[in-house]
Amino acid sequence: MEEHNNRIPRTLPVLHINNVVMFPYLLMPLVVTDEESRLVIDHALAHDKTMAFFLDREKSGPNDIGLNEIGTAVTILRMLRNQDGSISLLLQGTSRIRFQRVIQREPFIMVDVESIHEQSVEDTEIHAYRTIAIELMEKIASESTILNNEMIAGLSNIKQSGRVADIIAGNLDLQIDDRQIILETIDLKKRFKHLNNCLAEMIRQMRLENTIRSNIQLEMSEDQRRYYLREQLDAIRKELGENDEVSKEILKWKELIDKNNLPDYVEEVAREELARLATMQPAASEYAVLRNYLDWIVNMPWTTFSKDRLDLGRIEKILTHDHYGLEKPKERVLEYIAVKNLKGSLKGPILCFVGPPGTGKTSIGQSVARALKRKFIRMSLGGIHDEAEIRGHRRTYIGAMPGKIMMEIKRQGTANPVFMLDEIDKLGRDFRGDPASALLEVLDPEQNHSFVDNYLNLPFDLSEVMFITTANSLDTIPPALRDRMEIIEFSSYLENDKIQIARHYLIPKEKDANGLANYKITFRKSALQELIRYYVREAGVRNLQRRIGSIYRKIARQISAGNIDPRVIDANSVKDYLGPRKFSLELANRKPEVGIATGLAWTSYGGEILFCETTRMPGKGAIVLTGLLGDVMKESARIALSHLKANSQKYGIDPRELDKIDLHIHFPSGAVPKDGPSAGITLTTALASLFTGRKVKHDLAMTGEITLTGKVLGIGGLKEKFLAAKRAGITHLILPRENEETISDFSTDILAGMEITWVDNVKEVLDLVLLPASKTRPRAPKRTVAKP
Ligand SMILES: Nc1ncnc2c1ncn2[C@@H]1O[C@H](COP(=O)(O)OP(=O)(O)OP(=O)(O)O)[C@@H](O)[C@H]1O
Ligand SMILES: [Mg+2]
Repeated sequence: MEEHNNRIPRTLPVLHINNVVMFPYLLMPLVVTDEESRLVIDHALAHDKTMAFFLDREKSGPNDIGLNEIGTAVTILRMLRNQDGSISLLLQGTSRIRFQRVIQREPFIMVDVESIHEQSVEDTEIHAYRTIAIELMEKIASESTILNNEMIAGLSNIKQSGRVADIIAGNLDLQIDDRQIILETIDLKKRFKHLNNCLAEMIRQMRLENTIRSNIQLEMSEDQRRYYLREQLDAIRKELGENDEVSKEILKWKELIDKNNLPDYVEEVAREELARLATMQPAASEYAVLRNYLDWIVNMPWTTFSKDRLDLGRIEKILTHDHYGLEKPKERVLEYIAVKNLKGSLKGPILCFVGPPGTGKTSIGQSVARALKRKFIRMSLGGIHDEAEIRGHRRTYIGAMPGKIMMEIKRQGTANPVFMLDEIDKLGRDFRGDPASALLEVLDPEQNHSFVDNYLNLPFDLSEVMFITTANSLDTIPPALRDRMEIIEFSSYLENDKIQIARHYLIPKEKDANGLANYKITFRKSALQELIRYYVREAGVRNLQRRIGSIYRKIARQISAGNIDPRVIDANSVKDYLGPRKFSLELANRKPEVGIATGLAWTSYGGEILFCETTRMPGKGAIVLTGLLGDVMKESARIALSHLKANSQKYGIDPRELDKIDLHIHFPSGAVPKDGPSAGITLTTALASLFTGRKVKHDLAMTGEITLTGKVLGIGGLKEKFLAAKRAGITHLILPRENEETISDFSTDILAGMEITWVDNVKEVLDLVLLPASKTRPRAPKRTVAKP
């Protein structure tokens, strides 16, 4: 210490730095930029590299240059002049100095100083203070990370306690005033006392901060807490080398969750569930349940959309390419897409294709998907009774699964497929709940943007799905559902349509399907006509396709057996392949009869011709109705009878005779349920014929509701009835005048070759269809109709 002090010259330049207190022996890096400091440094370098360092004082002290009385002498250990003119210095304090007098003021201050001798006698009290100071330092080090432990360990090896105090004070972030006090206090006991107070205060503050921090941590959101816990759990698992499979699986899920672009609300749930999974034993039954659930929500295509091709020309081309005719449905579909195109999304009312079986409803839906380049899903609603099949079971059920809607969407992997709900008219309803109400939610554009499946329990946006429903009949669709749909009607095909469809679509398809693509086989038109007229009597073309298929199968078999001549299929070969005709044109074999009239009926399978047979037997005026008739039809029969009785004179009926007979009215086929008012005039005609003995013309058919007064009212389903009559070879129809409007939009193809008589009342009908009475009235029993 002596030698240091000796080296301090009496006159030193003052390096003037604000708010810094230097301690002896400590190193300090410093950068100076001002002119005065540069001069000071130059001066120091030119002499013995030593400068004086005093903390500024606010008030003037014992000197008039604003400096504290006690300061530090420092020497320059290293110096670097930077390019920007600043100077980087490494300084070391050498000793405490006391200000004496100012020697020079300009261009920098020079002062005379006196070195202060450090107290060299130390007693046990000082040692005790010193030990406490070191202990306090250790405490501070344990509470914070800013101090390095080696420095603290080094303290015990230093002999002079004064230096220990200086090192501690220099290394800590003390208040500037405290530093100055420690520098100024020459008495070691007092110096330590102040230092230890500072240290204790510092510890108190640090503890306080730590408590506050941990309180804040407690308040951290539950999520974060779970996150930390989970991370810790992972770490523990890894540490134990335990359950590697499980952690791999968890990791796999994590990656999937990161990768799959889930909406926030789904991601949140997925992470929560994954955290739960991570805490479970894989053997637990709940583990599998939870994993299954995760699999669902992570892999649902929440935000995966296929890109639409909304180019109308192209869509039209594809629709035309895939289907013959069907102008109206195609047009409606195109309009629908055009509107959506303008609106920018395919949201909107649901299309409902209604028509008889085999008329291309399902298959045109498929085409729409192909044209839009969307995925196609077909789901049959026939026989679905249980709401859960649509909307899924809650997860609390054992073996719970999502409903079919979500299942299909996951299977196809996009959130905007064309989704065909087939046979919506066959939807069931019973104690298991009402699937229609679940469907309502699916189909209602107002609510389907957040469809919640019971199992997933998270809203899925169905609004971009293009739903198409199909039905054979509108009658059985719940009205609320029907309301939300835009109905597009498909009607039966005419013979000519069927021939075209067969030629261009069904024949190539079936030929291909039966491996005959490379064989030249000609299907004559006469063969198709034979098939259509005598083998399949249907509104659509499904059975026609099937028959064509069976012909090709038989040919394929012959070819395989080695019999390979090129073939022509004509009307005769149809018989060879398919056996005798299945239908006959009834009319050809029929002749006028008493008590039988031909009506037209509408069913969900298309139109049909319907015979009304009546017979009488001795009795007391009883009436028997058979043929699975519904209430409305039974009432029609009573109305017909009452009207005839009431107007017996007008129609040439003997009313007395009516009291002596029993009546039986029957509609074949007996096993098919029938209902509706439209058989009214048919019933009246058959009865009038029975009562008068006049025969009914056999080559015409009729349909119309009657009133008690004998008025004829309009009916529905006319187009299908019309087409059915054509199929059956009938050329003359009697129709209610009220329906005159209806046929205005029938195509000329449909109307061609058909004679129509419009009627207003029963009298007109009877005048037209009853042949004049024959001379001899046959005996009643003989008139019993014996139809097979
Ligand atoms: N206009 C048409 N052009 C070409 N093929 C047709 C046409 N109409 C129907 N088909 C073919 O007839 C077959 C039966 O049609 P589809 O299955 O679409 O009937 P559907 O109307 O859905 O009947 P259902 O009401 O019984 O479900 C299909 O192979 C279809 O391609
Ligand atoms: Mg179908």
